[in-house]
Order: sequence, then C-alpha cells, then structure tokens
Amino acid sequence: MKPIEIAEGIYSVGVIDWNIRDFHGYSTYQGSTYNAYLIMDEKITLIDTVKKEFADDLIHNISRIVDPKKIDYVISNHTEMDHSGGLPRVMHRVGEDKPLYCSKVGHKNLSMHFPNRWDYRPLEDGGTLSLGKRTLTFMETRMLHWPDSMFTYAIEDRILFSSDAFGQHYAGLERFDDQIGDAIMPHARKYFANILLLYAPLILKLVDKVTEMNLPLDMVCPDHGIIWRKDPGRIINAYVEWSRQEPKRKAVVVYDSMWHSTEAMAEAIVEALGQAGVDAKPMHLRKWNRSDVITEILDAGAIIVGSPTLNNGLFPTVADFLTYMKGLKPKNKIAAAFGSYGWSGESVKIINKELEEMKFDVVHPGVKIQYVPDEKGIEACYELGARIAEGLPK
Ligand code: FEO
Repeated sequence: MKPIEIAEGIYSVGVIDWNIRDFHGYSTYQGSTYNAYLIMDEKITLIDTVKKEFADDLIHNISRIVDPKKIDYVISNHTEMDHSGGLPRVMHRVGEDKPLYCSKVGHKNLSMHFPNRWDYRPLEDGGTLSLGKRTLTFMETRMLHWPDSMFTYAIEDRILFSSDAFGQHYAGLERFDDQIGDAIMPHARKYFANILLLYAPLILKLVDKVTEMNLPLDMVCPDHGIIWRKDPGRIINAYVEWSRQEPKRKAVVVYDSMWHSTEAMAEAIVEALGQAGVDAKPMHLRKWNRSDVITEILDAGAIIVGSPTLNNGLFPTVADFLTYMKGLKPKNKIAAAFGSYGWSGESVKIINKELEEMKFDVVHPGVKIQYVPDEKGIEACYELGARIAEGLPK
C-alpha cells in the first residue's frame, strides 16, 4: 500500500499482507497488516518495521517520502518478528550505526534476536526523545503482550503508537476507523480474545494509568489493521469491557466427534440451552479454528466441552483446544463436559479435571454415553443444558 500522511509530517508506511491465513495458529481469514510509521522532523524517525519478507516493501514506501539513509532514529516498540523481522534490511539501508531506541527489555530481547548488531538505546519508562519540533515519550507496557512491549506517544500531535494493543488482523483498503465503521469491531474483538485476554488484569491497570495521566488522544496507531482517529475512545472502552469478562447469558458448546454421537449430544445440549433463552452455539473443532472459538467464549458465561474417548484419552483437537484455552485464562465461567465412548470412557473425567484447573465452576458431573445416544442419553444432555442455563445470568 502507498504511504499516507496521517497527520502533518507523520506517515503510515507499513504493508498489507493480503494472503496470510494462519498467524501462529490464529486464523486470519482476512489477512493482516504490519504497520510502521515515519515521522518527518529535524530528526527523521521510523517507528517499527514489518515481517522480514516485506522489508523491501517497507523500504520502498519510505523511499517515496525520503531517502531511507536520511532516517536518524529507529524505534522498536516490540520485539516480535512481525515488527522486527525487517530490521536487518531496514538498518542496512538506514545505516547500521544509527540509534535504535527500545525499552530496556526490548534491548535484551532484540539482542537475543539480533546479537551485538546495532546501537541499542534503551529507554526509561516515561523517558522522552526530542525530534526537533516534536517530542516523543515512552511508556513501558510489559506483558502487553511481550515483556519488551512499549507505547510511543507523540506529545504535540497527541498520537499514541500502541504497538500490538488495539490492533486487528484485517487487510483492507480502509486505513481508518471512520472508513470501515462498525465492521472492524469483530476483528478487534478476535484480536483481543486471542492475543491479549491473558493480560486482561494488566490492561485494566494500564487504562487506569493512562486515564490518570490525562493524555489527550487524537489518534491511536496500532501495528496491525486500521488507525483509530474518529473515536479512539471506542476501542479503549471496548478493551475495558472485554477485560472485565462479565459473563452473559451465552454458552459455547465446543466439541469434536468421531461417529456423530458426541455431535448429537452437543446439539441436544444447545437445544436445551436455546429453550431456556440462552444464546448458545455448537462449535465443532474441525469446522472452527480454535481462535474463533475463543472469540465466542470471551463474553460467554458457560463453556461446555465434549470429546469422544480415543485411545483412553481425549480426541486430539479437543486436547489442542483445552491447551490453547488454558493459556489464555478466560475467567468468570461455569462449565461442564460430555462425550461418547466405546469401552473405557475417560474423556469426561479428563475434561472435568482440565476445567477445574482452569478455575471454571464445573456445575454438573458431565454426561458420558456409550456408543450412540438413545432417547435416555439425549434426555441427559437436555438436563445438562438446563442445569447450565440455571447457572447463567438472567
Ligand atoms: Fe504483532 Fe506481538 O506482534
């Protein structure tokens, strides 16, 4: 994409990755972008780079505005390689001796990715850097979502360069929130659920800190997706809401099935939930990517997990999903398990243990059915659905 001037002397110079469909296990059905920003001041400054394979596109974009050799400073808000992979090519063009600003942990982490490579200049939390007419200030945002993550704030322009925070994996021709409207919110929500959910308590603290600092915000520029300029408060408020994880009268029934028995159980549970006025959905783990399931779970009050027993254990997709969910630590949910089996029937017990370890409130012992559910078995699934409905907010 061609660079655009997002504010006087500040350009978005990143790239669109139209074709990425799997971002380390997260389904990116609509691609993504790797955003980078160029500030034209007495000290010309580049904020962040892009994935290694797009480095030449970034350099080309920069060259449309200025000769890359004229860049004085490079800032790395985050070490993950979708933002740092392009550094070797970019620094080669900019000049290997140019200062590379980053957080203190960024210095450590970049050094482990690119040993003894550049003139790293670690910044203090709250430190400033004058570019001439404007001043940048830096805020450590450790564990949002890496220990090196930081925000860069352009004081006079009232622009926050927020790294991964407030981003979305979305490739489109729109560059700003006002151009895409509400259609961006599902992408922002999915991004939050899969990248930031684990750090929800830190996000609430960070938002409190930023509110106390009373920073005026004309624009929030993340490293993925569109820029928030019409209403930056909208995405910040959404992060607060998502971080609180207040449960809704909603349930997600996530499962896999070998011969449709666990599937029939899932559908009976969903039917009972629906009859009790619960927003419920069955999600088959070979039809839905784990990242889509987690997005649905974000505001659900209940998670019901089903697996056949395979070789005395869980079906592999269910084990995969439980591992993924455990890492993201969703909170405030009731839960239950179900599954069909042939002879040994361990799956429900294993799932219950996992759900308890995740600190969910397991409100039903679970339903296990040998081979194919009969009328009585389906009735037991209805009862499980009804019990879950009782435990959800009205
Ligand atoms: Fe977009 Fe944590 O990298």
